[in-house]
Amino acid sequence: MAEQMFDTARTAPMIDPFGRSISYLRVSVTDRCDFRCTYCMAEDMAFLPKKDLLSLEELDRLCAVFVEKGVRKLRLTGGEPLVRKNIMHLVRQISRHLKSGALEELTLTTNGSQLSRFAAELADCGVRRINVSLDTLDPEKFHAITRWGDLQRVLEGIDAAQAAGLKVKLNAVALKGFNDRELPEMLRWAHGRDMDLTVIETMPMGEIDEDRTDQYLPLSLLRADLERQFTLRDIPYKTGGPARYVEVAETGGRLGFITPMTHNFCESCNRVRLTCTGTLYMCLGQDDAADLRAPLRASEGNELLSNAIDEAIGRKPKGHDFIIDRRTKQPTVARHMSVTGG
Ligand code: GTP
Ligand code: 5AD
Ligand code: SF4
Repeated sequence: MAEQMFDTARTAPMIDPFGRSISYLRVSVTDRCDFRCTYCMAEDMAFLPKKDLLSLEELDRLCAVFVEKGVRKLRLTGGEPLVRKNIMHLVRQISRHLKSGALEELTLTTNGSQLSRFAAELADCGVRRINVSLDTLDPEKFHAITRWGDLQRVLEGIDAAQAAGLKVKLNAVALKGFNDRELPEMLRWAHGRDMDLTVIETMPMGEIDEDRTDQYLPLSLLRADLERQFTLRDIPYKTGGPARYVEVAETGGRLGFITPMTHNFCESCNRVRLTCTGTLYMCLGQDDAADLRAPLRASEGNELLSNAIDEAIGRKPKGHDFIIDRRTKQPTVARHMSVTGG
């Protein structure tokens, strides 16, 4: 009886102080990346010492506890998730929760550079759809924004993913003076190849070498601009992420807007983020975090861990306080996006 009661308590859904149910876990498996996108990282980044990383077995155990506690959607992120050594071992392990039906979706957000190698195996593990970050289709601009990336390799990765049967969604951070004029062409290209595209407002996370005020493009402006040449119709399509979608009449495809700056979507937040050192961030836009590594390592059972997660969810903040303007020089959050993978 006592045993039963404990089980019920442990599998009670995670509800935060604002009544939001947490069903989406984003796991950053490494803070390293083979690119250095200028809006995301400084050129000279200090990465975590490898000895501080959780092992893949520890990450798997953490994910299992979250799934048991009601997570239905799990996304691997980075840095670049596919540069973590033996990452497919973790994907394979986590995929058992897909088979059991406990998890609805296992997916990842990637820069695409390693997809040629991994696409088939990802599909074999039950991954159905992936998000690929791509901010431009111009090889020189791509090289510049990533500081050294090779566009061709990413395009080959996307081809490999589609050939393996994975649905691909493209993510483009909207950057003033960089890709704003090109976005109509990217939209046509993505939709012509049966990919959704989401555009994202840049968020003030971590010191970078450029001024975000120069880069920031409110998506309300972009939308008005696009509406001069496309017919956009709001649709209720949902993926569990923060994008709001429209259907583009001229292409028949979907375009998503992720608008943390101009339209706050925190009231429907359903997610938390785990880093590769076992730190849980309850909000992308706040500093508060909970250490799960200590309770993970303190005992073989999961009770301490489960309690630590409950305690953390119990202090999930209402939302972010992101600001981008000329007077605010410091990023709202000191850590880079690569720590939590967005
Ligand atoms: P879908 O499952 O396809 O909806 O993906 P997603 O939007 O949940 O994940 P993805 O990794 O593609 O994220 C796209 C962008 O949205 C990234 O730049 C993230 O930083 C941003 N994003 C995702 N979740 C949040 C969030 O909770 N708050 C904020 N402010 N931004 C978020
Ligand atoms: N603001 C918004 N999006 C960002 N990304 C990285 N840094 C930022 C930022 N400062 C995006 C990447 C990727 C996703 C995980 O987050 O391009 O698509
Ligand atoms: Fe959730 Fe924080 Fe993102 Fe808002 S900024 S949607 S509260 S994670």
